[in-house]
Amino acid sequence: MKALTWQGTSDVRVEQVPDPAIEKPDDIIVRITTTGLCGSDLHLYTVLAPFLDAGDVLGHEPMGIVEAVGGDVTAVSIGDRVVIPFNVSCGQCWMCSHDLYSQCETTQVHDYGTGASLFGYTKLYGQVPGGQAEFLRVPFGNFLPIKVPEGPPDDRFVFLSDVLPTAWQGVRYADVPPGGSLVVLGLGPIGDMAARIGSHLGQRVIGVDLVPERLGRLRSRGIEVLDLSAEDDLAGAVREITDGRGPDAVIDAVGMEAHGSPVAGLAHKFTGLLPDKLAQPLMQNVGISKLAALRAAIDIVRRGGTISISGVYGGAADPLPTMQLFDKQIQVRQGQANVKAWIDELLPLLGDDDPLGVDSFATHHLPLSEAPTAYEQFQKKEDGMVKVLFNP
Ligand SMILES: NC(=O)c1ccc[n+]([C@@H]2O[C@H](COP(=O)([O-])OP(=O)(O)OC[C@H]3O[C@@H](n4cnc5c(N)ncnc54)[C@H](O)[C@@H]3O)[C@@H](O)[C@H]2O)c1
Ligand SMILES: [Zn+2]
Ligand SMILES: [Zn+2]
Repeated sequence: MKALTWQGTSDVRVEQVPDPAIEKPDDIIVRITTTGLCGSDLHLYTVLAPFLDAGDVLGHEPMGIVEAVGGDVTAVSIGDRVVIPFNVSCGQCWMCSHDLYSQCETTQVHDYGTGASLFGYTKLYGQVPGGQAEFLRVPFGNFLPIKVPEGPPDDRFVFLSDVLPTAWQGVRYADVPPGGSLVVLGLGPIGDMAARIGSHLGQRVIGVDLVPERLGRLRSRGIEVLDLSAEDDLAGAVREITDGRGPDAVIDAVGMEAHGSPVAGLAHKFTGLLPDKLAQPLMQNVGISKLAALRAAIDIVRRGGTISISGVYGGAADPLPTMQLFDKQIQVRQGQANVKAWIDELLPLLGDDDPLGVDSFATHHLPLSEAPTAYEQFQKKEDGMVKVLFNP
């Protein structure tokens, strides 16, 4: 089959790789019809290079048609239309039975001390072949696949793999009181969707980014936005429009590749060029996180408010303003989305009335062969690219 493979820093290629096969009796094979490109893939493209091997298949936002099932699979049948969550979670362990699917104890990666394995997401998360491919082997076939109805286009359902549950968890963790206010930092797919969800739930949402078309997408839905590139004092500007107090909650949907920390930017580039055995400990222990967005969230949120972190952070040693966190009595919630925990709440929002605008959410539909160019354009935020879906 054809698959998008990582080959080196900023080098991904579509290659011919072996077809996946049923390995365990509860595996299924899915023929991928649509598969997303995520901001998380950009970390693989650059900063997480020490944790990848040339040839690793990327991608964790797939949906398609069940092509084959192992002997023990009863929950889905050949021909079913399914979305695959980005967490590889068993559905049976203690963590899964507490809705903490991104911490699944069956698939945790003990070599790196990390949580549940993820599709297409480095040795830190199990080095599981990903879904930017023509076919995908999916374990836990009686639990993991989300069956979706025939009829609506793939765009209606594909975001159940990551964008929708991640944004939903971000908003739920933000815990905005009725009629309260929410600032969303970063309006990539995750922040954009979180802003739509907050607004749908009746919250006052203020979105912040610096890419004009990303600001424009929210503005056109009647959601307030602030352009980071036009603000010398973002926190001050937010307080000015939130009774001088700041919002009830802030979602950080940016993560470690924030604009605004040039020194850390160099460190990121530097580790991308080091041999893995030097770069891995440097990234895990020394810490090169770019905390610009998180620091902004701490500054912006009102006293006693909540910060909900959806963006991915790595590293350990960047100083955090812990005194300010404590003094402002800030609650912090974060983590990889527990995808399966939110599906029942999300499915009713995926009807023909399309309250979240999922049908028109993707800006680009491309064949898989164009993935290498798409990675580059998505990283550079060129061509109005906000969300790319590949059709393998
Ligand atoms: N928690 C999870 O389960 C989960 C799931 C998916 C993605 N993520 C993470 O969420 C983050 C966002 O993902 P995405 O797909 O939307 O990515 P993205 O890279 O498209 O979006 C990030 C946005 O942040 C903006 N930005 C950069 N610096 C900023 C700053 N200082 N202030 C405000 N905005 C700033 C960028 O212009 C960009 O639009 C990434 O870190 C990704 O890895 C987490
Ligand atoms: Zn994703
Ligand atoms: Zn589990």
